[in-house]
Amino acid sequence: MLEGSFFIGSDHAGFFLKNTLKERMISWGLRVEDCGTHSPASCDYPEMAHKVCSLVLARNGYGVLVCGTGIGMSMTANRHKGIRAALCTHIFHARASRAHNNANILCLGQRVTAPELSMEILSAFLETPYEGGRHDRRLELMEKI
Ligand code: RB5
Repeated sequence: MLEGSFFIGSDHAGFFLKNTLKERMISWGLRVEDCGTHSPASCDYPEMAHKVCSLVLARNGYGVLVCGTGIGMSMTANRHKGIRAALCTHIFHARASRAHNNANILCLGQRVTAPELSMEILSAFLETPYEGGRHDRRLELMEKI
């Protein structure tokens, strides 16, 4: 299981799934800070994405971001240097994003992925260690733009 601080955020279209995932993480004994949104009222996903990314970078932790599709959240998160956000719709995405890409943020789409599958994706993300080795070189190259 990954160790450290966890931060979670969503917009209105990811509100239900965000709350469900947060409760599950707490039941697994993880410390998770909810960066909003705190109501189902319409809001703008970049605000929560920026908040979660800033905390993940400052505390060297991990994040979970949920919107309707997961696309807006992942696009926003990946603009932060040092953030490697993975939009996952399959358990294999989650495993590979950790093992090969050392992803530090998991993005999910509430309108795309059913709650139970989202839980399994989250669990795979949290349980998969980064493999290092040849992947270190590739992650370094990722930063060279
Ligand atoms: C909100 O309607 C929706 O656009 C947003 O949650 C997300 O899917 C954007 O990428």
